[in-house]
Amino acid sequence: MYKNAFDCLVQGVYIVSSCTENERAGLAAAWVMQSAFKPAMLAVALGPTRKTAEVIEKSKKFSIQVLDKKQKEIGELFGYYSSRNVEKLKLPIVEGVIAYFECELVGRFESGDHVIYNGLVVNHKLLNPHGEPMLFSMRDWF
Ligand SMILES: Cc1cc2nc3c(=O)[nH]c(=O)nc-3n(C[C@H](O)[C@H](O)[C@H](O)COP(=O)(O)O)c2cc1C
Repeated sequence: MYKNAFDCLVQGVYIVSSCTENERAGLAAAWVMQSAFKPAMLAVALGPTRKTAEVIEKSKKFSIQVLDKKQKEIGELFGYYSSRNVEKLKLPIVEGVIAYFECELVGRFESGDHVIYNGLVVNHKLLNPHGEPMLFSMRDWF
């Protein structure tokens, strides 16, 4: 049963990551959307205290990976621990993701207690055409 209007919003769960020469960071994000069709752009809303936001500010680029329903443990690792304390990104592409996008930062908008990073998609690949994207809804994810 829905408890309020926000519960009716449905999102996916994604790994958003970024790196400079010296550091890398990544997190789980539900607030990801396609923000333009031509050229293709993707946007993500991040809390400014996230280490990943700090690295995006420096690198001006980020990647987005689409988690499969089977990858809840990976989502928990990226969503419950900060890159400040844990090395989450053993490899740039997380094993088992359905697809990834590489984006160059082209816009940055303050949005209340979050910042929206808008990225131009410069590379993308579908890795598993049979995958089922994880969903985030009613504050639960599955
Ligand atoms: C399912 C899920 C979705 C999340 N979505 C977002 C989001 O859209 N934006 C955000 O800033 N944090 C989101 N978080 C919280 C971050 O993933 C979490 O704070 C993370 O530890 C930050 O890591 P970092 O400090 O390495 O960047 C989400 C967490 C979970 C579990």
